[in-house]
Amino acid sequence: MKKITIAIDGFSSTGKSTLAKQLAKHLGYVYVDTGAMYRAVALFAMQKGYISSSSFDKQALINDIPNIKLHFEFNADLGFAEMFLNDVNVEKEIRTIEVSSFVSKVAEVSEVRAKLVEQQKEMGKNKAIVMDGRDIGTVVFPDAELKIFMTASAETRAQRRFDELQAKGDNVSYEDVLKNVQERDYIDTHRDDSPLVIADDAIEIDNSYLSREEQFAAVLELVEEITKTL
Ligand code: DC
Repeated sequence: MKKITIAIDGFSSTGKSTLAKQLAKHLGYVYVDTGAMYRAVALFAMQKGYISSSSFDKQALINDIPNIKLHFEFNADLGFAEMFLNDVNVEKEIRTIEVSSFVSKVAEVSEVRAKLVEQQKEMGKNKAIVMDGRDIGTVVFPDAELKIFMTASAETRAQRRFDELQAKGDNVSYEDVLKNVQERDYIDTHRDDSPLVIADDAIEIDNSYLSREEQFAAVLELVEEITKTL
């Protein structure tokens, strides 16, 4: 079967990564979670003291970009690639609510986006890739053979993220998670550089009421239709 590029975009906590992982595993493709890369840069900015709840020294972060090295390493036990920042595994640290609260601000910085987009394009140059994020179908792979745009209500998404954080023992309230989801939606859709928009040729999936299995089956059918015509 011919290899294609699959771009999955959408709001936070719409289940993009769940779908992307299922597809990559089934098709034998590489899966890349670009949100993890922005989260790792946010963690770097926090560690260096460039960002806090009261301030953001954007210029200091921009000056330090050459010292940010990101790579993924596949973990066979987990079934996906973990994020490394300057050779340290940060997969767990980047999923906290603190990182979530700063990441959209960091993702607004054009210099950060340019660096990450360049790396993402490089990872996809041989196709056979499923990449998820906010600008994959519009900026990273505008020629992707399949573009999916995922949506679900803010409340549904907040409940999902709340359940995930609770399961990890993170003591946050549902209200805080909902507020974070709504704030990130706003920043992601209103930033000047590569705002979250649906690509003209993307297929929109609202999964508020779809099971993982139903969603996976529907998208797999699309993949099979597309690869047949190539
Ligand atoms: O998918 P996520 O919630 O882990 O993404 C974290 C943040 O990174 C999100 O608020 C927006 C940003 N992001 C982005 O701007 N572009 C991408 N391609 C992926 C994520």
